[in-house]
This record gives sequence, structure tokens and C-alpha cells, in this order.
Amino acid sequence: LSLAVIFGGQSSEHEVSLMSAASILANLDREKYNIHQVGITKEGRWLLYEGPAEGLSDGRWLRESTPAFLAPDPTVHGLVTLSEGGARTVHIDCVFPALHGKNGEDGSIQGLFELSGIPYVGCRVTSSAVCMDKAIAHTLLSNTDINQAHYLWFYADRYRANSETVLNKIQARLDFPVFVKPANAGSSVGVSKVERPEDLPAAIEKAANEDGKIIVEQGIDGQEVEVAVLGTRPGAEASCVGEIGASAQFYDYDDKYINGTSQLFIPARLEEDVAQKVRETAVKAYRLLGCTGLARVDFFVTREDHRVVLNEINTLPGFTSISMYPKLWRHGGLTYAQLLDRLIELAFE
Ligand code: DAL
Ligand code: MG
Repeated sequence: LSLAVIFGGQSSEHEVSLMSAASILANLDREKYNIHQVGITKEGRWLLYEGPAEGLSDGRWLRESTPAFLAPDPTVHGLVTLSEGGARTVHIDCVFPALHGKNGEDGSIQGLFELSGIPYVGCRVTSSAVCMDKAIAHTLLSNTDINQAHYLWFYADRYRANSETVLNKIQARLDFPVFVKPANAGSSVGVSKVERPEDLPAAIEKAANEDGKIIVEQGIDGQEVEVAVLGTRPGAEASCVGEIGASAQFYDYDDKYINGTSQLFIPARLEEDVAQKVRETAVKAYRLLGCTGLARVDFFVTREDHRVVLNEINTLPGFTSISMYPKLWRHGGLTYAQLLDRLIELAFE
């Protein structure tokens, strides 16, 4: 099977994607798959890189590669590469987007895969877009019995035009601490925990650097837990629950990828009935938002009364060597390679 693994991307999570892709490439069965490594630079240029996978971490993929494009034409069914010898087409049977965040996880590239007529791993256009935008996902789920933190969202330009009104509304509706987040971003990029009203403006500006839409959520005092969901309706299955013991103020970017200091507990330190409720809620949210293939659903379990509160759904969760998604399935008896096989099979369903 001719498989294109796409990595990098025009996203604040470009570097995380390189780490995810390196793990995926190291675990794919080379006897089953004829792998084509396709990198997207931060500027959005597409490159076919044929060197060793270690070249993802040292930047070799940027230098020793050929310009290539995924043709939005189902009769081409693959990549068109451009080199001195002219244009060449590389047939692709399936795409594995090892991308995170904007342009990778938000439905935009999934739209290109649809046009190309090539099956791909993960969520389709609408579910990708809906889950990427925290304001839209929260709004859709607020019509269900799934608990979420109190929140409000606004456009950055409205805030700049009338910041007093927005700041007053946040203080009237939410208790501190609150989390200020760009509506569209991942890996905690642009996220701040805000303890005092006077710190809101700086946090809002930081989030606004990442996205034109901001969401503010009331902080939840609880355990931070995550579930890996795999499969397509109605056969979607939940893994056991994993827990993050964050070492910082919250589970931020450095904690996730730089320091590696946060501790993971698999399974989570929860009573069985609470863990079961978390798993059921994960599958419910996954189905409601139309997910296919995979997603990691993140929750808080409140310290006082063990309420299960949904935080967010990640349709292309981290796949680095220390990431929760593959670890949760490993605990459930699926090796990393078997998990990748299953995800690729699901692309064809
Ligand atoms: N956005 C990162 C990759 C995650 O959710 O794991
Ligand atoms: Mg996320």
C-alpha cells in the first residue's frame, strides 16, 4: 500500500508534528507500506523527502527534497513532484496526516484529501473543523447533557473595539481563575491561566496572536484525564482513562514537549464507576461531533464531587513517543504498529 505521511505544516504546532511524524515513521511496518514522506514547511511549501526519518529532527528534510503537491484531481490520485527532470506523479493509496493545529487538524487539508479522492486517516472536514474551534465545539455540546466549564467567547476585533464591555462580561459570568485560549490552536500555545481580572488584557492579547477568536473558560479544580477513542460510528471504542499529573501551573507546552516532567498515570486514579462515566462520555461526544477514525477526548474530574467535565476533543492528538494516545492503546493491548494498521484500515471504511 502506497502511504503518504504528511508532517510539519503552517501551524504553531509544526514542531510537535515533526515529533509525532518521527514516531509514526519509526513504527509503521515497512513490509506493508511503501512510505512517502511529505513535509509542509512553515511557509506552506510541500516537499517530498526521501531520506532517513532522522532527517525530520535535524532539518535535512527541508534541504534534501523535491517540491511536490497533492493533486486535487481524483484522476491523478497522488502526488505530482517537480524536479529538473520535469513533472512525475507518485500514486498514493492513503494519506496519514501527522499534522496538528491550523491547516492540519481543522478540516482545511482534509478538504484537499476529499478533492484528491484519496482515503485518509482521521476525521472528515466538518468534524475536524468543529473540534478544532473550541467555541464551536463548546456551543454544540452545550445543547447536550455533557458537562463543560462555564465559558464565553468573542472575536479579538470586538474586544479591541470595546474591551471594557468584554472584560466586564468575563468578570460577571465567570469565577477566577479562568483560562484564556485562542479558539483555534493546540498544545496550549497562546493559553494562559489568569488568577486576577487585571491580568486579563495581557492574556487576551497573547491568545489573539494565535487566532482571531478567543474563548475564556472557568478553571476547574480537578484531575485532568484523557481517553483515546478509535473507530467509526457505531463501532467507536474508548481506551482506558489516562491521567496527567501536570508539573507546572497547568499542562502547558513546555510540560507537554520540552521538559517531559509531567507524570502520566495509566490507568487514571479514579473509582471504576467514574472512569466508566468518562469513557462513555468520550464516545458520546465523539459521535455527537461526527468524529471518524480517532480522537483524544480530554476531561476534568472535579475534586469535590467527581463530576465529569469535558475539556476538549483533539482529532489529531499528539503521537510523539511520550504521547497519551498511543500509550492508552498500548495499555489496552494494541502495539503502536497495530494501532497504526487499524487507523489506516479505518481510512477505507
Ligand atoms: N494538540 C496536541 C498535539 C494534542 O492534543 O496532543
Ligand atoms: Mg488540544
